[in-house]
Amino acid sequence: QETDQPYRTGYHFQPPKNWMNDPNGPMYYKGVYHLFYQYNPYGAVWGNIIWAHSVSYDLVNWVHIDHAIYPTQPSDINGCWSGSTTILPGEKPAILYTGIDTKNHQVQNMAVPKNLSDPLLREWIKSPYNPLMTPIDGIDPDLYRDPTTAWQGPDKIWRVIVGSQIDGHGRAILYRSKDFVSWTRIDSPLHSSGKTEMWECPDFFPVSTRSSNGVDTSSQDKYTKHVLKASFNHHDYYILGSYKPANDNFSVETNFMDSGMDLRYDYGKFYASKTFFDRAMNRRILWGWINESDSESDDIKKGWSGLQSIPRTILLSETGKQLVQWPIKEIEKLRFKNLSFHDKKLKSGSVLEVPGITASQADVEVSFELPNLEDAEILDPSWTDPQLLCSQKKASVRGKLGPFGLLAFATKNLTEQTAIYFRIFRSNHNYIVLMCSDQSRSSVREELDKTTYGAFIDMDPRHENITLRSLIDHSIVESFGGEGRACITARVYPKLGNSRASIPVCIQQWHLKCQNLKA
Ligand code: FRU
Repeated sequence: QETDQPYRTGYHFQPPKNWMNDPNGPMYYKGVYHLFYQYNPYGAVWGNIIWAHSVSYDLVNWVHIDHAIYPTQPSDINGCWSGSTTILPGEKPAILYTGIDTKNHQVQNMAVPKNLSDPLLREWIKSPYNPLMTPIDGIDPDLYRDPTTAWQGPDKIWRVIVGSQIDGHGRAILYRSKDFVSWTRIDSPLHSSGKTEMWECPDFFPVSTRSSNGVDTSSQDKYTKHVLKASFNHHDYYILGSYKPANDNFSVETNFMDSGMDLRYDYGKFYASKTFFDRAMNRRILWGWINESDSESDDIKKGWSGLQSIPRTILLSETGKQLVQWPIKEIEKLRFKNLSFHDKKLKSGSVLEVPGITASQADVEVSFELPNLEDAEILDPSWTDPQLLCSQKKASVRGKLGPFGLLAFATKNLTEQTAIYFRIFRSNHNYIVLMCSDQSRSSVREELDKTTYGAFIDMDPRHENITLRSLIDHSIVESFGGEGRACITARVYPKLGNSRASIPVCIQQWHLKCQNLKA
Protein backbone atom coordinates (compact mmCIF):
# COMPACT_ATOMS: atom_id res chain seq x y z
CA GLN A 1 0.00 0.00 0.00
CA GLU A 2 2.76 2.47 0.92
CA THR A 3 4.24 2.52 -2.56
CA ASP A 4 1.29 2.48 -4.89
CA GLN A 5 -1.20 4.15 -2.52
CA PRO A 6 0.84 6.65 -0.50
CA TYR A 7 -2.21 8.79 0.26
CA ARG A 8 -4.54 6.14 1.65
CA THR A 9 -4.93 6.69 5.35
CA GLY A 10 -3.98 4.32 8.12
CA TYR A 11 -6.52 5.16 10.81
CA HIS A 12 -9.13 7.41 9.20
CA PHE A 13 -12.38 5.88 8.01
CA GLN A 14 -12.46 5.15 4.31
CA PRO A 15 -14.07 2.46 2.19
CA PRO A 16 -11.74 0.07 0.29
CA LYS A 17 -12.36 2.01 -2.93
CA ASN A 18 -14.58 4.53 -4.75
CA TRP A 19 -16.27 7.78 -3.89
CA MET A 20 -17.54 8.66 -0.40
CA ASN A 21 -19.17 11.86 0.82
CA ASP A 22 -21.44 12.67 3.78
CA PRO A 23 -21.59 10.57 6.94
CA ASN A 24 -25.19 9.42 7.31
CA GLY A 25 -27.24 8.16 10.23
CA PRO A 26 -24.41 7.43 12.68
CA MET A 27 -25.71 5.69 15.79
CA TYR A 28 -24.89 3.42 18.68
CA TYR A 29 -27.28 0.51 18.91
CA LYS A 30 -27.04 -2.46 21.28
CA GLY A 31 -23.27 -2.50 21.56
CA VAL A 32 -22.49 -1.63 17.95
CA TYR A 33 -21.55 1.67 16.33
CA HIS A 34 -23.01 2.15 12.88
CA LEU A 35 -21.82 4.48 10.19
CA PHE A 36 -23.63 4.84 6.88
CA TYR A 37 -22.27 7.11 4.21
CA GLN A 38 -22.96 8.53 0.78
CA TYR A 39 -21.21 6.19 -1.63
CA ASN A 40 -20.80 5.56 -5.34
CA PRO A 41 -20.39 1.78 -5.81
CA TYR A 42 -19.19 2.27 -9.38
CA GLY A 43 -16.39 4.81 -9.24
CA ALA A 44 -14.26 7.47 -7.60
CA VAL A 45 -16.44 10.44 -8.59
CA TRP A 46 -19.81 11.54 -7.22
CA GLY A 47 -22.83 9.69 -8.70
CA ASN A 48 -25.14 6.64 -8.31
CA ILE A 49 -25.46 7.56 -4.66
CA ILE A 50 -26.48 4.93 -2.12
CA TRP A 51 -26.04 4.36 1.62
CA ALA A 52 -23.04 2.14 2.31
CA HIS A 53 -22.83 0.65 5.79
CA SER A 54 -19.99 -0.10 8.22
CA VAL A 55 -20.02 -1.30 11.82
CA SER A 56 -17.60 -1.12 14.72
CA TYR A 57 -17.33 -1.99 18.39
CA ASP A 58 -14.91 0.82 19.19
CA LEU A 59 -15.25 3.56 16.52
CA VAL A 60 -11.68 2.76 15.45
CA ASN A 61 -11.82 -0.65 13.75
CA TRP A 62 -14.53 -0.94 11.13
CA VAL A 63 -16.08 -3.75 9.15
CA HIS A 64 -17.71 -2.90 5.84
CA ILE A 65 -20.96 -4.78 5.39
CA ASP A 66 -23.65 -4.88 2.69
CA HIS A 67 -25.08 -1.63 1.41
CA ALA A 68 -28.05 -0.56 3.50
CA ILE A 69 -30.15 1.63 1.22
CA TYR A 70 -30.12 1.78 -2.57
CA PRO A 71 -32.69 2.74 -5.19
CA THR A 72 -35.65 0.37 -5.33
CA GLN A 73 -38.80 2.50 -5.10
CA PRO A 74 -40.22 5.32 -7.26
CA SER A 75 -39.45 7.66 -4.34
CA ASP A 76 -35.69 6.95 -4.42
CA ILE A 77 -35.09 5.49 -7.87
CA ASN A 78 -32.62 8.24 -8.82
CA GLY A 79 -30.57 8.27 -5.65
CA CYS A 80 -30.52 7.76 -1.89
CA TRP A 81 -29.13 10.96 -0.43
CA SER A 82 -28.28 12.07 3.08
CA GLY A 83 -30.29 11.53 6.22
CA SER A 84 -30.22 10.45 9.84
CA THR A 85 -31.31 7.77 12.24
CA THR A 86 -33.62 8.15 15.21
CA ILE A 87 -34.07 5.48 17.85
CA LEU A 88 -37.80 5.14 18.46
CA PRO A 89 -39.35 3.86 21.69
CA GLY A 90 -38.85 0.13 22.13
CA GLU A 91 -35.28 0.45 20.84
CA LYS A 92 -36.34 0.61 17.21
CA PRO A 93 -34.06 2.55 14.88
CA ALA A 94 -35.57 4.35 11.91
CA ILE A 95 -33.79 6.08 9.05
CA LEU A 96 -35.12 9.21 7.39
CA TYR A 97 -33.31 9.98 4.15
CA THR A 98 -33.74 11.99 0.98
CA GLY A 99 -34.76 10.07 -2.10
CA ILE A 100 -34.53 11.37 -5.64
CA ASP A 101 -37.79 10.30 -7.24
CA THR A 102 -38.86 9.47 -10.80
CA LYS A 103 -39.23 13.21 -11.56
CA ASN A 104 -35.83 13.95 -10.03
CA HIS A 105 -37.56 15.68 -7.13
CA GLN A 106 -36.14 15.49 -3.62
CA VAL A 107 -38.52 13.76 -1.19
CA GLN A 108 -38.10 12.35 2.32
CA ASN A 109 -38.35 8.61 2.92
CA MET A 110 -38.15 6.17 5.79
CA ALA A 111 -36.48 2.78 6.21
CA VAL A 112 -36.40 0.43 9.22
CA PRO A 113 -34.36 -2.68 10.03
CA LYS A 114 -35.77 -5.88 8.61
CA ASN A 115 -34.69 -7.91 11.60
CA LEU A 116 -34.16 -6.18 14.94
CA SER A 117 -32.47 -9.23 16.38
CA ASP A 118 -29.62 -8.98 13.87
CA PRO A 119 -27.03 -7.05 15.91
CA LEU A 120 -25.52 -5.58 12.74
CA LEU A 121 -28.86 -4.46 11.28
CA ARG A 122 -27.76 -5.65 7.87
CA GLU A 123 -31.02 -5.34 5.99
CA TRP A 124 -33.34 -2.36 5.81
CA ILE A 125 -36.86 -2.22 4.48
CA LYS A 126 -38.49 0.88 3.15
CA SER A 127 -41.80 2.20 4.36
CA PRO A 128 -44.76 1.45 2.09
CA TYR A 129 -45.87 5.02 2.85
CA ASN A 130 -42.85 6.61 1.17
CA PRO A 131 -42.41 9.39 0.41
CA LEU A 132 -43.41 10.75 3.81
CA MET A 133 -42.63 14.39 2.97
CA THR A 134 -42.76 16.04 -0.45
CA PRO A 135 -41.81 19.44 -1.88
CA ILE A 136 -45.18 21.18 -2.00
CA ASP A 137 -46.39 24.65 -0.99
CA GLY A 138 -43.52 26.71 -2.32
CA ILE A 139 -40.68 24.28 -1.66
CA ASP A 140 -38.21 23.98 -4.54
CA PRO A 141 -37.93 20.24 -5.36
CA ASP A 142 -34.19 20.68 -6.02
CA LEU A 143 -33.53 22.34 -2.68
CA TYR A 144 -35.15 20.14 -0.09
CA ARG A 145 -33.09 17.49 1.63
CA ASP A 146 -31.13 15.87 4.46
CA PRO A 147 -33.60 15.21 7.32
CA THR A 148 -32.09 15.35 10.82
CA THR A 149 -32.39 12.95 13.71
CA ALA A 150 -35.91 13.57 15.00
CA TRP A 151 -36.59 14.64 18.58
CA GLN A 152 -39.62 14.26 20.78
CA GLY A 153 -41.13 17.06 22.85
CA PRO A 154 -42.69 16.55 26.29
CA ASP A 155 -45.99 16.28 24.34
CA LYS A 156 -44.59 13.05 22.78
CA ILE A 157 -44.84 14.60 19.33
CA TRP A 158 -41.88 14.05 17.01
CA ARG A 159 -40.15 16.94 15.29
CA VAL A 160 -37.68 16.86 12.44
CA ILE A 161 -36.08 19.48 10.23
CA VAL A 162 -35.21 19.31 6.56
CA GLY A 163 -32.66 21.60 4.88
CA SER A 164 -33.85 23.90 2.12
CA GLN A 165 -33.68 27.27 0.47
CA ILE A 166 -36.78 29.38 0.02
CA ASP A 167 -36.73 32.82 -1.64
CA GLY A 168 -32.96 32.62 -1.69
CA HIS A 169 -32.72 32.05 2.08
CA GLY A 170 -31.32 29.01 3.87
CA ARG A 171 -34.08 27.45 5.91
CA ALA A 172 -34.74 24.57 8.32
CA ILE A 173 -38.26 23.41 7.46
CA LEU A 174 -39.95 21.95 10.52
CA TYR A 175 -42.32 18.97 10.54
CA ARG A 176 -44.27 17.32 13.34
CA SER A 177 -45.64 13.81 13.63
CA LYS A 178 -47.41 11.66 16.20
CA ASP A 179 -46.54 8.33 14.61
CA PHE A 180 -43.29 9.07 12.69
CA VAL A 181 -45.10 8.26 9.42
CA SER A 182 -47.56 11.06 8.87
CA TRP A 183 -45.71 14.39 9.01
CA THR A 184 -47.23 17.88 9.03
CA ARG A 185 -45.23 20.89 7.96
CA ILE A 186 -45.25 23.75 10.43
CA ASP A 187 -45.70 27.20 8.86
CA SER A 188 -42.73 28.85 10.46
CA PRO A 189 -39.34 27.23 9.98
CA LEU A 190 -37.23 26.36 13.00
CA HIS A 191 -34.82 28.98 11.71
CA SER A 192 -33.81 30.70 8.47
CA SER A 193 -31.21 33.17 7.30
CA GLY A 194 -31.12 35.75 4.55
CA LYS A 195 -27.36 35.77 4.67
CA THR A 196 -26.94 32.23 3.41
CA GLU A 197 -28.22 30.12 0.57
CA MET A 198 -29.22 26.44 0.67
CA TRP A 199 -28.70 24.69 4.00
CA GLU A 200 -27.45 21.17 3.46
CA CYS A 201 -27.28 18.56 6.21
CA PRO A 202 -28.73 20.55 9.11
CA ASP A 203 -28.19 19.16 12.61
CA PHE A 204 -30.08 20.24 15.73
CA PHE A 205 -29.20 18.97 19.19
CA PRO A 206 -28.94 19.94 22.85
CA VAL A 207 -25.70 20.47 24.80
CA SER A 208 -25.37 20.67 28.55
CA THR A 209 -24.32 23.95 30.17
CA ARG A 210 -23.07 22.29 33.33
CA SER A 211 -21.67 18.90 32.47
CA SER A 212 -19.15 17.52 30.06
CA ASN A 213 -21.47 14.66 29.18
CA GLY A 214 -23.40 14.70 25.97
CA VAL A 215 -27.18 14.60 26.01
CA ASP A 216 -29.75 12.66 24.04
CA THR A 217 -31.37 14.52 21.17
CA SER A 218 -34.81 14.69 22.81
CA SER A 219 -33.65 15.63 26.29
CA GLN A 220 -34.04 19.12 27.63
CA ASP A 221 -33.90 20.89 30.97
CA LYS A 222 -32.82 24.25 32.30
CA TYR A 223 -29.19 23.27 31.77
CA THR A 224 -29.44 22.74 28.04
CA LYS A 225 -28.70 24.99 25.12
CA HIS A 226 -29.37 24.00 21.53
CA VAL A 227 -27.02 23.95 18.58
CA LEU A 228 -28.16 24.42 15.00
CA LYS A 229 -25.60 23.48 12.37
CA ALA A 230 -25.99 24.04 8.65
CA SER A 231 -23.64 23.25 5.75
CA PHE A 232 -23.14 25.97 3.13
CA ASN A 233 -20.27 27.87 1.45
CA HIS A 234 -18.18 24.68 1.77
CA HIS A 235 -18.18 24.89 5.57
CA ASP A 236 -20.16 23.68 8.57
CA TYR A 237 -21.40 26.68 10.56
CA TYR A 238 -23.29 26.57 13.83
CA ILE A 239 -25.23 28.86 16.10
CA LEU A 240 -26.32 28.50 19.72
CA GLY A 241 -29.67 29.32 21.21
CA SER A 242 -32.48 28.32 23.45
CA TYR A 243 -35.23 26.07 22.16
CA LYS A 244 -38.77 25.79 23.52
CA PRO A 245 -40.62 22.71 22.36
CA ALA A 246 -44.00 24.10 23.45
CA ASN A 247 -44.05 26.47 20.48
CA ASP A 248 -40.95 25.21 18.69
CA ASN A 249 -39.31 28.55 19.16
CA PHE A 250 -35.56 28.69 18.73
CA SER A 251 -34.24 31.98 20.01
CA VAL A 252 -30.65 32.41 18.92
CA GLU A 253 -27.69 34.00 20.70
CA THR A 254 -25.81 34.54 17.47
CA ASN A 255 -26.71 34.19 13.83
CA PHE A 256 -25.12 32.64 10.76
CA MET A 257 -22.61 34.95 9.09
CA ASP A 258 -22.90 37.61 11.79
CA SER A 259 -19.89 39.84 11.60
CA GLY A 260 -17.24 38.77 14.04
CA MET A 261 -19.07 35.60 15.03
CA ASP A 262 -17.96 33.01 12.56
CA LEU A 263 -18.55 29.80 14.49
CA ARG A 264 -17.49 26.77 12.49
CA TYR A 265 -16.80 23.19 13.46
CA ASP A 266 -13.60 23.34 11.48
CA TYR A 267 -11.85 26.15 9.62
CA GLY A 268 -10.28 23.85 7.03
CA LYS A 269 -11.94 21.04 5.15
CA PHE A 270 -14.92 19.54 6.94
CA TYR A 271 -18.43 19.34 5.51
CA ALA A 272 -21.91 17.82 5.76
CA SER A 273 -21.18 16.61 9.27
CA LYS A 274 -23.54 14.90 11.66
CA THR A 275 -23.61 14.18 15.39
CA PHE A 276 -25.14 11.35 17.36
CA PHE A 277 -25.58 10.64 21.04
CA ASP A 278 -23.48 7.71 22.20
CA ARG A 279 -25.51 6.38 25.10
CA ALA A 280 -22.84 3.84 26.01
CA MET A 281 -20.38 6.59 26.90
CA ASN A 282 -22.75 9.52 27.49
CA ARG A 283 -21.12 11.67 24.88
CA ARG A 284 -22.11 13.33 21.63
CA ILE A 285 -19.92 12.44 18.70
CA LEU A 286 -19.35 14.37 15.51
CA TRP A 287 -18.43 12.90 12.12
CA GLY A 288 -17.56 15.08 9.11
CA TRP A 289 -16.73 14.46 5.47
CA ILE A 290 -13.24 15.54 4.40
CA ASN A 291 -12.98 15.79 0.62
CA GLU A 292 -9.88 15.69 -1.57
CA SER A 293 -7.70 18.62 -2.64
CA ASP A 294 -6.34 16.88 -5.72
CA SER A 295 -8.04 16.72 -9.13
CA GLU A 296 -10.81 14.43 -10.29
CA SER A 297 -8.39 12.66 -12.62
CA ASP A 298 -6.07 12.05 -9.64
CA ASP A 299 -9.03 10.50 -7.78
CA ILE A 300 -9.86 8.24 -10.71
CA LYS A 301 -6.20 7.21 -10.84
CA LYS A 302 -6.03 6.40 -7.15
CA GLY A 303 -9.47 4.77 -7.29
CA TRP A 304 -11.01 6.57 -4.34
CA SER A 305 -12.09 9.96 -3.04
CA GLY A 306 -13.12 11.24 0.39
CA LEU A 307 -12.37 10.52 4.04
CA GLN A 308 -14.27 10.84 7.28
CA SER A 309 -12.77 12.88 10.10
CA ILE A 310 -11.69 11.13 13.26
CA PRO A 311 -14.90 10.98 15.30
CA ARG A 312 -14.82 13.91 17.71
CA THR A 313 -16.45 14.38 21.07
CA ILE A 314 -18.34 17.66 20.93
CA LEU A 315 -19.21 19.79 23.99
CA LEU A 316 -20.13 23.30 25.01
CA SER A 317 -17.02 25.25 26.07
CA GLU A 318 -16.61 26.55 29.60
CA THR A 319 -17.51 30.07 28.46
CA GLY A 320 -20.73 28.71 26.94
CA LYS A 321 -20.06 30.77 23.84
CA GLN A 322 -18.82 28.06 21.53
CA LEU A 323 -18.34 24.31 21.11
CA VAL A 324 -15.13 22.40 21.69
CA GLN A 325 -14.10 19.19 19.99
CA TRP A 326 -11.60 16.48 20.79
CA PRO A 327 -10.72 13.21 19.06
CA ILE A 328 -12.53 10.30 20.75
CA LYS A 329 -10.29 8.77 23.35
CA GLU A 330 -10.41 5.31 21.74
CA ILE A 331 -8.01 6.62 19.09
CA GLU A 332 -5.29 6.74 21.75
CA LYS A 333 -5.21 2.97 21.92
CA LEU A 334 -3.50 3.00 18.51
CA ARG A 335 -0.49 4.74 20.00
CA PHE A 336 2.48 2.41 20.14
CA LYS A 337 5.73 4.29 19.96
CA ASN A 338 5.86 7.17 22.36
CA LEU A 339 8.31 10.00 22.37
CA SER A 340 8.21 13.02 24.60
CA PHE A 341 10.28 16.08 25.40
CA HIS A 342 9.76 18.60 28.14
CA ASP A 343 10.97 22.09 28.92
CA LYS A 344 12.93 22.59 25.75
CA LYS A 345 13.91 26.17 25.17
CA LEU A 346 13.66 27.10 21.56
CA LYS A 347 15.35 30.01 19.88
CA SER A 348 13.55 32.15 17.42
CA GLY A 349 13.98 30.78 13.94
CA SER A 350 15.04 27.33 15.03
CA VAL A 351 13.65 24.04 13.84
CA LEU A 352 13.83 21.03 16.05
CA GLU A 353 13.46 17.68 14.45
CA VAL A 354 11.58 14.93 16.26
CA PRO A 355 13.76 11.93 15.54
CA GLY A 356 12.75 8.33 15.37
CA ILE A 357 9.11 8.50 14.46
CA THR A 358 7.44 7.80 11.16
CA ALA A 359 5.58 10.98 10.67
CA SER A 360 3.26 9.76 7.95
CA GLN A 361 1.11 8.40 10.76
CA ALA A 362 1.38 10.19 14.09
CA ASP A 363 -0.50 11.80 16.94
CA VAL A 364 1.32 14.91 18.11
CA GLU A 365 0.58 17.01 21.18
CA VAL A 366 2.54 20.18 21.85
CA SER A 367 2.19 22.81 24.52
CA PHE A 368 3.90 26.19 24.10
CA GLU A 369 4.73 28.47 27.00
CA LEU A 370 5.43 32.04 25.94
CA PRO A 371 7.34 34.29 28.29
CA ASN A 372 7.36 37.72 26.62
CA LEU A 373 3.89 38.44 25.44
CA GLU A 374 4.49 42.19 25.46
CA ASP A 375 6.59 41.72 22.35
CA ALA A 376 3.52 40.75 20.34
CA GLU A 377 2.80 42.58 17.15
CA ILE A 378 -0.13 45.03 17.25
CA LEU A 379 -3.20 43.72 15.47
CA ASP A 380 -4.31 46.04 12.71
CA PRO A 381 -8.08 46.55 13.18
CA SER A 382 -8.62 45.65 9.53
CA TRP A 383 -7.24 42.14 10.14
CA THR A 384 -10.59 40.58 10.88
CA ASP A 385 -10.40 37.57 8.58
CA PRO A 386 -8.14 34.91 10.11
CA GLN A 387 -7.85 32.90 6.91
CA LEU A 388 -6.71 35.96 4.97
CA LEU A 389 -4.29 36.88 7.73
CA CYS A 390 -2.78 33.38 7.65
CA SER A 391 -2.42 33.50 3.89
CA GLN A 392 -0.70 36.90 4.08
CA LYS A 393 1.49 35.83 6.97
CA LYS A 394 2.42 32.37 5.81
CA ALA A 395 4.70 30.12 7.81
CA SER A 396 7.73 31.65 6.08
CA VAL A 397 6.91 35.20 7.28
CA ARG A 398 8.75 35.96 10.53
CA GLY A 399 6.77 37.90 13.10
CA LYS A 400 7.44 38.98 16.66
CA LEU A 401 5.55 36.26 18.48
CA GLY A 402 5.30 33.49 15.95
CA PRO A 403 5.09 31.56 13.84
CA PHE A 404 5.60 28.67 16.23
CA GLY A 405 4.10 25.25 15.76
CA LEU A 406 4.57 22.04 13.87
CA LEU A 407 5.93 21.09 10.46
CA ALA A 408 4.31 17.89 9.29
CA PHE A 409 5.42 15.84 6.28
CA ALA A 410 8.65 17.84 6.17
CA THR A 411 11.57 16.90 3.93
CA LYS A 412 15.11 17.25 5.20
CA ASN A 413 15.66 20.61 3.49
CA LEU A 414 12.05 21.66 4.23
CA THR A 415 11.18 21.93 0.53
CA GLU A 416 7.97 20.16 1.38
CA GLN A 417 6.24 20.94 4.65
CA THR A 418 2.74 21.43 6.00
CA ALA A 419 2.94 24.07 8.71
CA ILE A 420 0.43 24.25 11.53
CA TYR A 421 1.37 27.25 13.62
CA PHE A 422 0.29 30.12 15.82
CA ARG A 423 0.94 33.87 16.00
CA ILE A 424 0.09 36.15 18.86
CA PHE A 425 -1.07 39.72 18.34
CA ARG A 426 -1.90 42.51 20.73
CA SER A 427 -4.99 44.66 20.52
CA ASN A 428 -5.36 47.29 23.27
CA HIS A 429 -4.93 45.24 26.42
CA ASN A 430 -5.94 41.94 24.90
CA TYR A 431 -4.00 39.25 23.17
CA ILE A 432 -5.27 37.58 20.04
CA VAL A 433 -4.21 34.03 19.17
CA LEU A 434 -4.21 33.12 15.50
CA MET A 435 -3.97 29.48 14.38
CA CYS A 436 -2.98 28.67 10.80
CA SER A 437 -2.57 25.64 8.60
CA ASP A 438 -0.37 26.53 5.63
CA GLN A 439 -0.44 23.99 2.79
CA SER A 440 1.34 26.18 0.23
CA ARG A 441 4.52 24.09 0.46
CA SER A 442 2.84 20.79 1.31
CA SER A 443 3.81 19.14 -1.97
CA VAL A 444 6.04 19.79 -4.95
CA ARG A 445 3.15 18.46 -7.02
CA GLU A 446 1.14 20.99 -8.93
CA GLU A 447 -2.60 21.11 -9.59
CA LEU A 448 -3.43 20.64 -5.94
CA ASP A 449 -5.59 23.00 -3.94
CA LYS A 450 -3.11 24.36 -1.38
CA THR A 451 -5.33 26.98 0.25
CA THR A 452 -4.15 28.26 3.62
CA TYR A 453 -6.66 28.07 6.48
CA GLY A 454 -6.91 30.13 9.65
CA ALA A 455 -8.92 30.71 12.82
CA PHE A 456 -8.77 32.92 15.89
CA ILE A 457 -8.80 31.02 19.17
CA ASP A 458 -10.86 32.41 22.02
CA MET A 459 -8.19 32.26 24.75
CA ASP A 460 -5.94 34.45 26.83
CA PRO A 461 -2.30 33.41 26.40
CA ARG A 462 -1.44 35.22 29.66
CA HIS A 463 -3.27 32.53 31.58
CA GLU A 464 -2.73 29.34 29.68
CA ASN A 465 -0.25 27.63 27.40
CA ILE A 466 -1.06 27.36 23.74
CA THR A 467 -1.68 23.77 22.85
CA LEU A 468 -1.83 21.93 19.59
CA ARG A 469 -2.83 18.38 18.81
CA SER A 470 -2.41 17.17 15.26
CA LEU A 471 -3.49 13.83 13.87
CA ILE A 472 -1.28 13.15 10.88
CA ASP A 473 -2.29 10.35 8.54
CA HIS A 474 -0.67 10.10 5.06
CA SER A 475 -2.78 12.73 3.29
CA ILE A 476 -4.64 14.42 6.14
CA VAL A 477 -3.66 16.63 9.06
CA GLU A 478 -6.46 17.22 11.57
CA SER A 479 -5.42 19.88 14.06
CA PHE A 480 -7.02 20.92 17.34
CA GLY A 481 -5.83 24.24 18.78
CA GLY A 482 -6.43 25.58 22.28
CA GLU A 483 -7.77 22.27 23.65
CA GLY A 484 -10.21 21.92 20.77
CA ARG A 485 -11.53 25.48 20.62
CA ALA A 486 -10.41 25.81 16.99
CA CYS A 487 -10.03 22.90 14.58
CA ILE A 488 -8.41 22.97 11.17
CA THR A 489 -8.32 19.98 8.85
CA ALA A 490 -6.17 19.92 5.72
CA ARG A 491 -5.60 17.43 2.91
CA VAL A 492 -2.07 17.23 1.54
CA TYR A 493 -0.27 15.02 -0.99
CA PRO A 494 3.44 15.16 -0.16
CA LYS A 495 5.58 13.73 -2.89
CA LEU A 496 8.94 13.62 -1.18
CA GLY A 497 8.38 13.94 2.53
CA ASN A 498 6.17 11.36 4.06
CA SER A 499 8.43 10.48 6.90
CA ARG A 500 9.54 13.29 9.22
CA ALA A 501 7.97 15.79 11.59
CA SER A 502 9.75 18.79 12.93
CA ILE A 503 8.98 21.80 15.03
CA PRO A 504 9.77 25.13 13.42
CA VAL A 505 10.36 28.65 14.59
CA CYS A 506 9.44 28.01 18.16
CA ILE A 507 9.72 30.42 21.00
CA GLN A 508 10.90 29.41 24.42
CA GLN A 509 9.56 26.49 26.31
CA TRP A 510 7.51 23.73 24.90
CA HIS A 511 6.38 20.25 25.75
CA LEU A 512 5.87 17.71 23.06
CA LYS A 513 4.47 14.25 22.95
CA CYS A 514 4.59 12.39 19.71
CA GLN A 515 3.26 8.94 19.06
CA ASN A 516 3.07 6.75 16.04
CA LEU A 517 -0.30 5.30 15.37
CA LYS A 518 -0.92 1.81 14.15
CA ALA A 519 -3.04 1.40 11.03
C1 FRU B 1 -23.90 17.36 0.92
C2 FRU B 1 -24.92 16.80 -0.06
C3 FRU B 1 -26.29 16.65 0.57
C4 FRU B 1 -26.93 15.58 -0.29
C5 FRU B 1 -25.75 14.66 -0.55
C6 FRU B 1 -25.79 13.98 -1.89
O1 FRU B 1 -22.60 17.03 0.59
O2 FRU B 1 -24.98 17.60 -1.23
O3 FRU B 1 -27.03 17.85 0.61
O4 FRU B 1 -27.98 14.92 0.36
O5 FRU B 1 -24.59 15.47 -0.46
O6 FRU B 1 -24.76 13.05 -2.02
